[in-house]
Amino acid sequence: MEQIKSDIFLSKLSTIAENVNKYLDNWLPQKEEEYSANLNEAMRYSVMAGGKRIRPALTVLVAEGLGYKNEANYRAGCAYELYHSASLIHDDLPCMDDDDLRRGKPTNHKVFGEATAVLAGDCLMLMPYEWFARLSEYGISSEKIAKIIRIANEAFTYRGVIGGQMLDLLYENKKIDQKTLESIHLGKTAALLRAPILTGAILADATDKELDSLKTYSQKIGLLFQIIDDILDIESDTATLGKNVGRDSALGKSTYPALLGLDGAKDYAKKTYQEAIISLEPFGNRLSDLKALAFYLLNRKS
Ligand code: IPE
Ligand code: IPE
Ligand code: MG
Ligand code: MG
Ligand code: MG
Repeated sequence: MEQIKSDIFLSKLSTIAENVNKYLDNWLPQKEEEYSANLNEAMRYSVMAGGKRIRPALTVLVAEGLGYKNEANYRAGCAYELYHSASLIHDDLPCMDDDDLRRGKPTNHKVFGEATAVLAGDCLMLMPYEWFARLSEYGISSEKIAKIIRIANEAFTYRGVIGGQMLDLLYENKKIDQKTLESIHLGKTAALLRAPILTGAILADATDKELDSLKTYSQKIGLLFQIIDDILDIESDTATLGKNVGRDSALGKSTYPALLGLDGAKDYAKKTYQEAIISLEPFGNRLSDLKALAFYLLNRKS
């Protein structure tokens, strides 16, 4: 029974990812466009290289799970995928993690050069604001759009991804306690899962209480996501992940496996998964897809 449920969820996730790919292809500037053709090509290269599309899927799963179906869910969700792809382009630069493989292809700066990679990332980090503003085209109120932009910007900037990335770099080759490590993960990873989740909830008119439960869920799956990412960097292989393995130890990154050992990190991931499930209790049978997603994130191989 559990297996069947999990298979149904995975096929739903892959349908959403296909839709996301189609929408992104439609909505991104054409690479042939005369103005900044090179920039457009560089942006498309990274965004259209695949990826699990977890962030847009979260917006769609939450909004639809709470009974709201509208193309707006994809427009908002895909905006987060732009920012996410940008954060990966920047994360791979020589001044950061210095990686040459991403999503199974040479990294953006390897193909287009560092300057273009920086600009492509800059552009992809700013385009979400236009896409959020365009939610009005789907009948979304200005009030909701303002709420979404505020939540997104918190995830994008100093309390979110950029702040987390800053700490991630500062704590290379340093001793770290678990609380600080958790705060790095909450910034660099959980923030960009929280915003698409809350966006789906806002689109679906969730109550403040529901938003609070979803904030807890986001923190738990954010931590879970990064703990598993760190474990895969040790246990998986480059072909499966589409990115080079062993980079965290080479760079002296502060990670859960480094702090707690591999088994300790695995136990902590399981505990965090359980807490994610508990946070969904107020929703009863609604949002069961979020339970399945947490299970998928715990067991993912790539
Ligand atoms: C990788 O994110 C970066 C982290 C936050 C750990 P994903 O594992 O979601 O990467 P893609 O989008 O599937 O390539
Ligand atoms: C990066 O974390 C998270 C971002 C904000 C991009 P990692 O540096 O662990 O991501 P990977 O392993 O390169 O995908
Ligand atoms: Mg990094
Ligand atoms: Mg990295
Ligand atoms: Mg990693």
